[in-house]
Amino acid sequence: MYISEIPKNKEGEITVKGWVTNSRSSKGIEFIVLRDGTGYLQCILDINNIGENNYNQAKKLTQESSIELTGTIVENEKQAEGFELQVYRLNVISISEDYPITNKAHGVEFLADNRHLWLRSKRQWAIMRVRNNIIFAIHNFFQKEGFVQADAPIFTANAAEGTSTLFETNYYDSPAYLTQSGQLYGEAMAMALSKIYTFGPTFRAEKSKTRRHLSEFWMIEPEMAFYNNDMNMDLIEKFLQAVIKEVIEKSKKEFEVLERDTTLFEKIIKNDFPRITYNEAVDILKGEKDVNGKNSIKTLENDLQELISKIENIKADITERENVLATQSMKKGKRNFLKNKVDKLKNELKGLEDSAQHIPQWIESAKNFKYGNDLGGSDETVLTRLFELPIMVYNWPHEVKAFYMKRDIDSPELAKGVDLLAPEGYGEVVGGGERETNKELLIEKINEHKLPMEAFEWYLDLRRFGSVPHAGFGLGLERLVAWMCKIKHIRETIPFPRYYGRVTP
Ligand code: 4AD
Ligand code: MG
Repeated sequence: MYISEIPKNKEGEITVKGWVTNSRSSKGIEFIVLRDGTGYLQCILDINNIGENNYNQAKKLTQESSIELTGTIVENEKQAEGFELQVYRLNVISISEDYPITNKAHGVEFLADNRHLWLRSKRQWAIMRVRNNIIFAIHNFFQKEGFVQADAPIFTANAAEGTSTLFETNYYDSPAYLTQSGQLYGEAMAMALSKIYTFGPTFRAEKSKTRRHLSEFWMIEPEMAFYNNDMNMDLIEKFLQAVIKEVIEKSKKEFEVLERDTTLFEKIIKNDFPRITYNEAVDILKGEKDVNGKNSIKTLENDLQELISKIENIKADITERENVLATQSMKKGKRNFLKNKVDKLKNELKGLEDSAQHIPQWIESAKNFKYGNDLGGSDETVLTRLFELPIMVYNWPHEVKAFYMKRDIDSPELAKGVDLLAPEGYGEVVGGGERETNKELLIEKINEHKLPMEAFEWYLDLRRFGSVPHAGFGLGLERLVAWMCKIKHIRETIPFPRYYGRVTP
């Protein structure tokens, strides 16, 4: 039986199979926390119930040993599920060698090297399950809305999102690229099927390690015939709200493991997202325009002051506790508890000090931002900190956007693009817009971006044969997982992350 399927009042004997994540002994009893991939279950192996032979085997079980346990479910209010397993029989499947990932803190690189094992940790388990729920909710939404999932190729001759991040491959002795985006094919498929979405891996050679960039990530790209950018923004909002609503309903247990407070999501699913133009965004960023009485620069300066006093307080707290540790004698348990607390405080201190270091840079960059530039990660953070909800920034300078963006006829310096910026410092999660339908303008852009015209002839055909207004967007799956789980770094959002400098395991 799977742990997740055990009902609270289960009667009779059951057998569960899984791995030992934790064990402790007390006189004649082994307490084992078993995980089977679907959940966690406390199991009681009492020498009086399982016999001496089984008991001796139980004492030798190491972390991650695989076992089969037979017993009955008994009530225990202290357990998260309200029950535990009273075991009668133990069958050892395989004794694990020294398992490298223990309860102590491990370094980031060490964990990344052991990703194939790290995935078994409870936090990673929870993240992967949220990821799964997000994927399912995305399909659910689009299928209910009448979209057809249509797949774009992975090998392509087209650079969709700039030539600097292309991965080139040897395709039967000719160059081909790993796709950066399914969009161009999505446009062709929308002309055939009206409303489509692609859902596949995309690749970008991002030659730097950031917490937001992967070299291989999954993108969801809807594309709709007869849509303008306003309709596109309506869809982005409705889509994200539907996905978030389903995910918070389905992932309660996972968010508990991740200690993710979901109050904000409850607001997000009920309120319209603010929409601001790029020009307004820049005014706000530079502190030239307030948002509900909040000024970007003043807010940052206040936050910095607050941080500094928090840092002083924590430092004093640490010193005091370290003094107690150094001068007083106490029981081992209490000592460990105190030491743990000090470690936690030091960790918190480090985070605060990092933020305190960033804020002066953010202030500088916000004040000196030049109209016409693209928003950087820190600009997005400064901007979104003034809003509670995700915001949509639209009408961008055409130079910072891709070649296919629809130019605004009334303000030709602008393109009808939109970025959705998530709150809590997560920044751009969705990028999209209306597509250029004017063939001459497109040709001009293709030349301007120094793209090979022959590779785009098929794309121009979409403008030659029954061209219609159309729009779409791309959601970065891992960015949404990171934000929803409130994980600092995107590398924990995908089972086997690929980023600059890492291709194993
Ligand atoms: O803004 P981007 O580059 O837009 C496109 O690719 C369009 N073709 C989408 C469309 O209109 N159909 O990328 C879209 C999203 C970003 O907002 C971000 O969430 C994610 O893809 N993304 C990345 N995620 C992880 N690692 C990277 N290196 C990413 N680059 C983009
Ligand atoms: Mg973008």
